[in-house]
Amino acid sequence: MKKKKLRSQEWYGRTGKDGFIYRSWMKNQGLPHHLFEGEKPVIGICNTYSELTPCNAHFRDLAEAVKRGVWEAGGFPLEFPVMSLGECSIKPTAMLFRNLASMDVEESIRANPMDGVILMCGCDKTTPSLVMGAASVDLPSLVLSGGPMLVGRFKGKKIGTSDVWRFAEDFKTGKLSQEDFIEAEAAMSRSVGHCAPMGTASTMAAMVESLGLALPDNATIPAADSRRKVMAHLAGMRIVEMVKEDLKMSKILSRQAFENAIMVNAAIGGSTNFILHLTAIAKRIGVDLDLTDFDHFSAKIPLIANVQPSGEHWVEDLFYAGGMPAVMKEIQKHLNRDCITVNGKTLGENIANAECYDRNLIGTLEKPIKPESGIAVLKGNLCPNGAVIKPSAASPHLLTHTGKAIVFEDIDDYKAKIDNEALEVDENSVLVMKNVGPKGYPGMPEVGNMGLPKKLLDKGIKDMVRISDGRMSGTGYGTVVLHVSPESAIGGPLALVKNGDMIKLDVPNRSLELLISEEEMEKRKSSFKPLSLPYERGYVNLFLDKVNQAHDGVDFDFLQGSSGSEVKRDSH
Ligand code: FES
Ligand code: MG
Repeated sequence: MKKKKLRSQEWYGRTGKDGFIYRSWMKNQGLPHHLFEGEKPVIGICNTYSELTPCNAHFRDLAEAVKRGVWEAGGFPLEFPVMSLGECSIKPTAMLFRNLASMDVEESIRANPMDGVILMCGCDKTTPSLVMGAASVDLPSLVLSGGPMLVGRFKGKKIGTSDVWRFAEDFKTGKLSQEDFIEAEAAMSRSVGHCAPMGTASTMAAMVESLGLALPDNATIPAADSRRKVMAHLAGMRIVEMVKEDLKMSKILSRQAFENAIMVNAAIGGSTNFILHLTAIAKRIGVDLDLTDFDHFSAKIPLIANVQPSGEHWVEDLFYAGGMPAVMKEIQKHLNRDCITVNGKTLGENIANAECYDRNLIGTLEKPIKPESGIAVLKGNLCPNGAVIKPSAASPHLLTHTGKAIVFEDIDDYKAKIDNEALEVDENSVLVMKNVGPKGYPGMPEVGNMGLPKKLLDKGIKDMVRISDGRMSGTGYGTVVLHVSPESAIGGPLALVKNGDMIKLDVPNRSLELLISEEEMEKRKSSFKPLSLPYERGYVNLFLDKVNQAHDGVDFDFLQGSSGSEVKRDSH
């Protein structure tokens, strides 16, 4: 077989002025000439290292391990930084910048001389932004995740991100002192890595493993475990081979691979953010996927992994129990096992010898951790284009519920009123928040699991039905209806809800209805005024102009699809 000329040779293999320019400045790093002669695939290491993204702050070290693997396999590694999104620090929400980061990734990969790329992902948005961007170029690409934190310890108890919400409520009701609160902060985040429960970061890591974009076990090896560096080294070795095999992303990301990801997400009780990100990735690579697929493919899968927030334990524990291969093996009869993965083997081959070492952590189809899991997609006059709820995180008694709406016009209105003694709210009320969707906030923040009114918390109430066009943290829980589409800011029916309206949630029948007459709905619609937002310039202006609604993945309309990897013009 004749060897295909490497893409990087369109830069480094040139003669005359262009070749001089493409090579000479690179040589200021001490790189010998033979590296540019087209024998060694150039591997880009797309790094989201940042001290402002603490979940990815160990990535400089990890990148060195990738490089060792690339060198060993005969490649030529070149690391480059891209925009890094730290979930816990970025205001108003990291989601506002996911698409911006994906543009950085896409253009950086396409514009530079590389033959394959390692995508270094960790904190929530750093996975979808890198995968989306890389999908729109379609080089051989392999995801390396940073790994979860070691489980926190506080006053003799194991803790992690899902406890933040509980701590906050205990602090509010005086059960936790200010000193304890501060001590818990350091106790929870005691090692490198991303959130310890099956939050969005680990959900995304499981997503890429089930899609076939990462090596087996990538999702669960703890960040602090030396085997995480082994994973990085092996990823570096493997990407060199992938270039030789021309194993591009589009060969891996088939419709069947997306179906697998949806089933696996149900098996792990993964984050609702998964829906937005997987939808956006599918639209980049040109796979037809819509909201009903999430309901359909997760319907047959129960909760297999006993990990918070849907279960009891942590991603670290899941690794010791056998990791994602062992979880996937339990649902293998439902999976499309022929899907090819980055290691060149099929998903079926990758999980064939997986073993479960702890039945407390990994259930079976016959004896699952919980019978219900996955995502329920709701339709109705309140959400004509859909809304979602995660039944495994909800209270069973509220899954069918009719109650009076308590309406908050936006997040500020909610904050101002929620603890007001005069608020006429009880446990049967339905909390409704408007203007927290993609355009309304803007950026669709994780505020959908609104904290309950203090007076109800004091009574011992733990859950209420909550509805919004926003998102919820992957570690959040409760009977929370999210991603209502179309959003209120552009005149979706959510905008028309008034205090005292009755709302009927019926998860078993997948419906969400505002119980008012069609005439009344029309009347309210005619007096609706769209939200006017004060963003005249800059990125947010572009975002407001171009962003899609939740059911389309909140991507920019002009970013859907791929432009390939070819660049015709030179820089001089
Ligand atoms: Fe980064 Fe949770 S804050 S993964
Ligand atoms: Mg999160």
